[in-house]
Amino acid sequence: MKRRIGILTSGGDCPGLNAAIRGVVRAAYNLFDAEIIGIRDGYRGLIDGDYQVMEPSQFSNILTRGGTILGTSRRPFRDMRVIGDDNVDKVAEMKRNYRAMRLDCVVTLGGNGTHKTANLLAEEGMNVIGLPKTIDNDIYGTDFTFGFHTAVEIATDVIDRIHTTAASHGRCMVIELMGNKAGWLTLYSGIAGGADVILLPEIPYDIEKVAQVVETRARLKKSFSIIAVAEGAMDMRESEMRRRDRDAERTASEYNSISQRIAAQIQEMCGVETRTVVPGHIQRGGTPCAYDRLLSTQFGAHAAELIRDEVYGMAVALQGNAITHNKLSDIAGKTKGVTPDHQVVQAGRDIDISFGDR
Ligand code: F6P
Repeated sequence: MKRRIGILTSGGDCPGLNAAIRGVVRAAYNLFDAEIIGIRDGYRGLIDGDYQVMEPSQFSNILTRGGTILGTSRRPFRDMRVIGDDNVDKVAEMKRNYRAMRLDCVVTLGGNGTHKTANLLAEEGMNVIGLPKTIDNDIYGTDFTFGFHTAVEIATDVIDRIHTTAASHGRCMVIELMGNKAGWLTLYSGIAGGADVILLPEIPYDIEKVAQVVETRARLKKSFSIIAVAEGAMDMRESEMRRRDRDAERTASEYNSISQRIAAQIQEMCGVETRTVVPGHIQRGGTPCAYDRLLSTQFGAHAAELIRDEVYGMAVALQGNAITHNKLSDIAGKTKGVTPDHQVVQAGRDIDISFGDR
């Protein structure tokens, strides 16, 4: 009996999405009689009924391609059950289109928000399997998400390149990295790139401590300093504030970003010429690294095995060295941040990298 599998990619794109799509599809074609329906732009396509039956040839030559061949969009979970001005009942439409497509299941590739909506669809009686993608690596229940290692490579390359210009000019460079509210990307690339200070959302910093590092390095005739700061990092005072108040304060501030604020403070406190670098969406662009191609392929193949075995309502995961799955209902709504006693943090402290807190 033919199985009709819908696939969608939702939320911010990242390298490895196409490799994961290919993994699902190739394993599905190989393991059973499968027909693949490509749903455009994530949940937007499921709501609007924007989809097409895919030919196997459409999945050729996509292993190394960045972005997503299916397109993506952000549809916040909190709005899913809200009927807006357009009067569209999004959940009802998704159910209707799922039936209209005659799907046996839908595979959703995405981050935390995507997994929450995937769980909602499962609660509404649809067969769903989630695959964890994000450069933020903040999905609960999996050691790594695909996209993360490629972003670490890119961010590390940025830090490497900044080293040479920082050293030539004797400057302090503040590099602001993505990661949303999690510090994984900054932690991994900061260590790999040899940053002197790493500032994470999970470890609130004291700017005096950061300044001490820059001053001490200057005294030791190390003419430059590299500070890797996560976009979600906060100082100790901010960490005591409610998120709403913190966001309001930042919006009203003269600085457009956390890196700008830190650079201004360091320049003022240490008298060291300081510059900022914000690589932004470059961290999400281009070809997936070998690790992500492998992980995406394994995740995709595991999803196809679950479909073959009719095991639904699951999110594929990596735990230790094993590809496995969690119940969507167990992980939806939870996130995974860096724990302050994480081994990678400890290794950083051991080699005298400052996290700005001591
Ligand atoms: O979740 C991935 C991510 O790149 C975050 O690191 C970042 O905060 C956010 O998406 C940026 O979102 P957008 O692409 O919508 O600007």
